Amino acid sequence: MNPGIDDLPVRDELRGKSPYGAPQLDVPVRLNTNENPYPLPEPLVERITERVREAARGLNRYPDRDAVELRTALAAYLTRTGGHPVGVENVWAANGSNEVIQQLLQAFGGPGRTAIGFEPSYSMHALIARGTGTGWISGPRGEDFTIDLPAAEKAIAEHRPDVVFITTPNNPTGNAVPAETVIALYDAAQAAKPSMVVVDEAYIEFSHGASLLPLLADRPYLVVSRTMSKAFGAAGLRLGYLAAHPAVVDAVQLVRLPYHLSAITQVTALAALEHTDTLLKYVEQLKSERDRLVSELRAAGYEVTESDANFVQFGRFADSHATWRRILDRGVLVRDNGVPGWLRVSAGTPAENDAFLDAVRDLKKEQEQSG
Ligand SMILES: Cc1ncc(COP(=O)(O)O)c(C=O)c1O
Repeated sequence: MNPGIDDLPVRDELRGKSPYGAPQLDVPVRLNTNENPYPLPEPLVERITERVREAARGLNRYPDRDAVELRTALAAYLTRTGGHPVGVENVWAANGSNEVIQQLLQAFGGPGRTAIGFEPSYSMHALIARGTGTGWISGPRGEDFTIDLPAAEKAIAEHRPDVVFITTPNNPTGNAVPAETVIALYDAAQAAKPSMVVVDEAYIEFSHGASLLPLLADRPYLVVSRTMSKAFGAAGLRLGYLAAHPAVVDAVQLVRLPYHLSAITQVTALAALEHTDTLLKYVEQLKSERDRLVSELRAAGYEVTESDANFVQFGRFADSHATWRRILDRGVLVRDNGVPGWLRVSAGTPAENDAFLDAVRDLKKEQEQSG
């Protein structure tokens, strides 16, 4: 017998589904997964090597299960940059913020419970909900991709979700969510039933505005989730973290696997945090490249959503997938997130962005000639 997936007794909600993932194509310019395009600086590579060598000697032992040294360093980073004092007891870390979100849904979602997100947004929120048996509610967004507050409050009152996701800056649209909107949604969620509100700040370091960490004061049901995949240029490391009331940290520990964060991951993240200031300089460069993409796309005749992230949503296209393919034919990989009429490009190095801008200007010319 040689069964296919549908011959196996997989859960009904997984039948006919495909695994999540952007195409990993071997093309000259890859601007499709919102990575940081700059390799880690050599002194940091040296420091990682040193710390990993040291840790390798102790690999016969399990790692620090509570990752205390790392969580302390993350708390110091948040306190220094987030405008709100955060201690080790407020911080939890896991293998990427996807795992943080999974642990949150394991603890606060699950069978018989629901989560809501305002779409289009980061599609893994819905997929992790499905994977954890949590019902998913697709909440509304306005025409301009901002959260339509009255409609969102109504959806929360009607569905009384257990978990509310707010992504700011939002992926794939790029726009940030104002603090007042988050406060209003938090209040709506608490009025409907005490539910957890997860603010996904994966791209916050690229924002024109401030982190929403100060909202944690007096809001025990609020969670801010972060990652080292974007601003720290360490997508390959797989390190995400959250800040919340200590009770939330206690709750996720009920579902985390023992020793989930390897000793190698912990020391590598610590080494990267030692180089925070250097890494944040790349963020400044990327922010100015992002702003250049916005203005040059507009000058070339494209529509662009306001961006507070390291990527830009641009359009509009009668057939976005066909346009995605034509940009790819010119050696540049962007992302089709399935938002009708729009595509997303990550800010790369100046040379990568030039290659992208040449490709899309070329498309416009072609269009003008044929139309
Ligand atoms: C909004 C948002 N949250 C979370 C993540 C996951 O990041 P990671 O698991 O690499 O920390 C991403 C990745 O693209 C994202 O866009």
